[in-house]
Amino acid sequence: MSSHRQETVRRLAAPDIAARKGGVPIVCLTAYTAPMAEILDQHCDLMLVGDSVGMVVHGLPNTVGVTLEMMILHGQAVMRGSRRAMVVVDMPFGSYEGSPQDAFANASRIMKETGASAVKVESGETIVANIEYLVKRGVPVMGHVGLRPQAVLVDGGFKAKGKLDHERRRILDEARATAEAGAFAIVVEGVAEGLAREITEAVAVPTVGIGASVGCDGQILVTDDMLGLFDWTPKFVRRYGDLRTQIGKSVAAYADDVRQRKFPGPAEIYFAKAG
Ligand code: KIV
Repeated sequence: MSSHRQETVRRLAAPDIAARKGGVPIVCLTAYTAPMAEILDQHCDLMLVGDSVGMVVHGLPNTVGVTLEMMILHGQAVMRGSRRAMVVVDMPFGSYEGSPQDAFANASRIMKETGASAVKVESGETIVANIEYLVKRGVPVMGHVGLRPQAVLVDGGFKAKGKLDHERRRILDEARATAEAGAFAIVVEGVAEGLAREITEAVAVPTVGIGASVGCDGQILVTDDMLGLFDWTPKFVRRYGDLRTQIGKSVAAYADDVRQRKFPGPAEIYFAKAG
């Protein structure tokens, strides 16, 4: 009798991340492609297929133009490239703000077609009812408060939030309502110092900060930003690499080799066999 033992790795899920409240900080990064997901998988607890893909990969000016189809395609790639980290897929602008039924139809498409473990929505007063509707029907939801990139056209740019008292109170209320609606974790983006800690203390679920200080239960960055792929990054990004320079140097070396007929060399060509 033959036994087929498959090595199985259990993928982290919403309850695992929720249980990390107040514990070892949760490591999160964005991922949009299979090879990058493969590299990040062993280091991250959670990978977000962020709608930032529109700006980072597709050259869009903001995330408003990102479609459900784009999110599904990139979600599928990240799931193929990873085995262990929880994968969360952003719901794009226009896919969850209408009726709860429409939000559920779009969220279930993402879950079924990608196999991801959860969706993320930019939260607010008008969104919490839809979060509750999704969670009650089996869709784990991550919230997102503070700077909401999908509101860029209303806000007139990507501006840090919570500098004024009334705004601070509103964001705190939105975070509380998001947690009460059933979100398993909340991204806190671009808020003034002190507010992230206040939110973290006020909600029972983990907070994941980006431009939000160390007072969160975890951190997330756009991977391509922290790897130094762009010539400009926001103030809150720490660059852990300089891929832009490295890629530039590598491509220049290749171009030189091609122009001088040094590439391909004998090691890089096929030889005919005798006979
Ligand atoms: O779209 C995204 O990448 C995000 C992160 C910045 C949190 O929402």
